Amino acid sequence: MARILITSAIPYINGIKHLGNLVGSQLPADLFARYMRARGHEVMFICATDEHGTPAELAAAKAGKPVEVYCAEMHAVQADLARGFRLSFDHFGRSSSQRNHRLTQHFAGRLAENGLIAEVSEKQVFSIDDNRFLPDRYITGTCPNCGYEAARGDQCENCTKQLDPTDLINPRSSISGSTNLEVRETKHLYLRQRALKDKLEAWIDSKTDWPILTTSIAKKWLNDGDGLQDRGITRDLYWGIPVKKGSEDWPGMEGKVFYVWFDAPIEYIAGTAEWADANGLPDAAWERWWRTDKGAADVTYYQFMGKDNVPFHTLSFPATILGSGEPWKLVDYLKSFNYLNYDGGQFSTSQGRGVFMDQALSILPADYWRWWLLSHAPENSDSEFTWDNFQASVNKDLADVLGNFVSRVTKFAKSKLGETIPAGGDFGPAEAALITDLSTRIRDYETLMAQMEVRKAAAELRAIWVIGNEYLQSAAPWSAVKTDPARAEAIVRLSLNLIRVYAILSQPFIPDAAATMMQAMGSDDWSWPEDVPAALNALPAGHHFTVPENLFRKITDEERADWQQKFSGVRT
Ligand code: MF3
Ligand code: ZN
Repeated sequence: MARILITSAIPYINGIKHLGNLVGSQLPADLFARYMRARGHEVMFICATDEHGTPAELAAAKAGKPVEVYCAEMHAVQADLARGFRLSFDHFGRSSSQRNHRLTQHFAGRLAENGLIAEVSEKQVFSIDDNRFLPDRYITGTCPNCGYEAARGDQCENCTKQLDPTDLINPRSSISGSTNLEVRETKHLYLRQRALKDKLEAWIDSKTDWPILTTSIAKKWLNDGDGLQDRGITRDLYWGIPVKKGSEDWPGMEGKVFYVWFDAPIEYIAGTAEWADANGLPDAAWERWWRTDKGAADVTYYQFMGKDNVPFHTLSFPATILGSGEPWKLVDYLKSFNYLNYDGGQFSTSQGRGVFMDQALSILPADYWRWWLLSHAPENSDSEFTWDNFQASVNKDLADVLGNFVSRVTKFAKSKLGETIPAGGDFGPAEAALITDLSTRIRDYETLMAQMEVRKAAAELRAIWVIGNEYLQSAAPWSAVKTDPARAEAIVRLSLNLIRVYAILSQPFIPDAAATMMQAMGSDDWSWPEDVPAALNALPAGHHFTVPENLFRKITDEERADWQQKFSGVRT
């Protein structure tokens, strides 16, 4: 039994995530966690909400709520949707937790002690009426390039020119509209990543089994232009983790907070500590996942994220960990994803374009989405969600292949042979051939799942469902029952056992349907089919089963057209 730590990139608190976000991190991480648990490994699967920073403050202001209240509410909403999608986190934490405050301050303190923090004086726009420094994007004015009157201090949305707030004509605060602004000196902390370049490079070079997508992004940032840049890790904001050196005040840093990207990945660790707290466990319980001096040396750590997150996880967060000089666990394997597009364009949170998690669950159960998303995961290139493709996959793979097999077998068995596993006949050449084929395919499926080859694993699982149908079709128990009833009984006995095996194999992808199949087979034996012939004899003759409700329904052409229309616009 291995010990496996899994984290998914933690979703921003502001707003409900769309299906593109889901398929790039949380969902494949869940697939892997479920698979590893099914194989008997000890798994710790952590996710959280990413709660700090300007976007959270802006969203709370827009909702007319204090930011703490807004974050607490949105955390509950996201936790509920995660349950709806059956994301099996051991803990879904919050980056605003006290655990994360303390750990983030701890890391900053260690980095300072190791000489890796520089204090830098900068000029920044201060709004006298708002009584605060304004981040670039909080300043609005006229674009010097195109004359657009609502250009932001970081960039003009109209002509896309990158701007400095001081370039703007008639600058004003986006918070209050006040033009009573002045440029003031302010001090910030920089993490001296440059000083860690060699260590980081050696570490990345040691990861020879990482996918190209991951290492190429890391290398690019390591060596591009001036190479690795020192990175500002503090901000003049109200909402965030107060800047401290461990538990001590940091002179000159009063009223400042850590930058959201500094504290967010630390929440992976803090979230595990929150898990221990929530379960009344001592620190040793979470430290054995994270501290190599306290039991984590035999942990393998996997991270899941979209490709835009890769630089933060291959350089910035490792710089924090390595720079601390303490024996914290570094990531062993990083699985990153391309983007999922939506119906001829991009999914977009800011533009409300696409299908969002709550909307998806309001029209169909989680398994339908899980199956489509995972079987079309954007691994080697970007992929696209279309309603046609969604309808076709659901109807073919889930309804025609898996659902149909389960319903044909159970209905036929019940009506002709009764509601127990029939005893007659022996397995013959057709069953032997099926078992051989199935064994090969299950071993391939295991390899693909262990390698996190999500799409290929889905294709293999589908092929495993198909061979059941093909077997049933050619063995034709409905004919045999008339001429050789014992033969029909053997076929049905094997097929009913196959349903239980399908439940186990399919559980990581479609957990609800898997539970329904297992329950219909009157079993609670989820042990992995290491020994395929034994697994196909697990339900003995005389064992009771039931006919389950239809596992999957088909999506009609009318529904498809309807949904396509309904989700073509902009979410308000
Ligand atoms: N919230 C970020 C995003 O959605 C991901 C943060 S991952 C972490 O892009 F490592 F910082 F936690
Ligand atoms: Zn412009």
